[in-house]
Amino acid sequence: MVRQHVNPLSRFYQLPRPLPPPAELFAHPALPLHLDIGAARGRFLLAMAQREPRWNHLGLEIRRPLVEAAEADRQALELGNLRYLFGNANVSLESWLRALPAGLLQRVTIQFPDPWFKKKHHKRRVLQPELVLALADALAPDAALLVQSDVLSVIEPMVAVIEASGCLERPTDDARPWRDGNPLAVPTERERHVLAQGLPVYRVLYRRNGQPTPPLHQLRQHVEATLEQSPEAADNPASDPATP
Ligand SMILES: C[S@@+](CC[C@H](N)C(=O)[O-])C[C@H]1O[C@@H](n2cnc3c(N)ncnc32)[C@H](O)[C@@H]1O
Repeated sequence: MVRQHVNPLSRFYQLPRPLPPPAELFAHPALPLHLDIGAARGRFLLAMAQREPRWNHLGLEIRRPLVEAAEADRQALELGNLRYLFGNANVSLESWLRALPAGLLQRVTIQFPDPWFKKKHHKRRVLQPELVLALADALAPDAALLVQSDVLSVIEPMVAVIEASGCLERPTDDARPWRDGNPLAVPTERERHVLAQGLPVYRVLYRRNGQPTPPLHQLRQHVEATLEQSPEAADNPASDPATP
């Protein structure tokens, strides 16, 4: 039985777990790299890896049984351009990103992240200012960051922190505030579920611009000022996941 959610701030998930470099993961490590954060059971990335054999695809996921099942699928198909790793994006990614060869990271996807609705749980959300800066430092010039959610009160703070960084821009011809469609050919499992119910999906595609990343304290201040101006989503205890 796979837990529906785990608490990323619990001691077990805060243990540092070094992630192997691309040279140890892929048959052709120099191919452009797509990183999917919160890959879950991995079916989105499995399809992407088959569609895009000239890219490497890495799925990071905090629930280990899902990683094991996804890796079993990958091995059965003998895909050398796909890997799934167990880890907490807020603990293990920063040093791994820092060690990447320049220009390798060409796409990052963060799709339907766990909502953690209650205000006291917002610090469990995956897209924290530290992660935005680490991603921005690693993304190649013009590389893509795609964020998607079906929950407005989740995507809005993601957009706020990404845009406050000043290093990621929307294509000028994109619809605002949300893209009309998914720029990728494959919907995620959560996306299929949401679309099947006729519910909206909020998406933004960003490109890395040439701006340097700001200091963390400056980004935090900027985000706090932005969010203070917009009323916070009300706590919604009924929809918050139960945590271990
Ligand atoms: C709601 S699911 C969405 C899964 C998939 N992206 C989709 O769209 O179908 C969010 C996933 O992110 C994972 N996750 C949450 N926090 C994480 C973290 N800090 N590091 C890595 N994965 C995380 C969860 O375990 C879960 O599988």
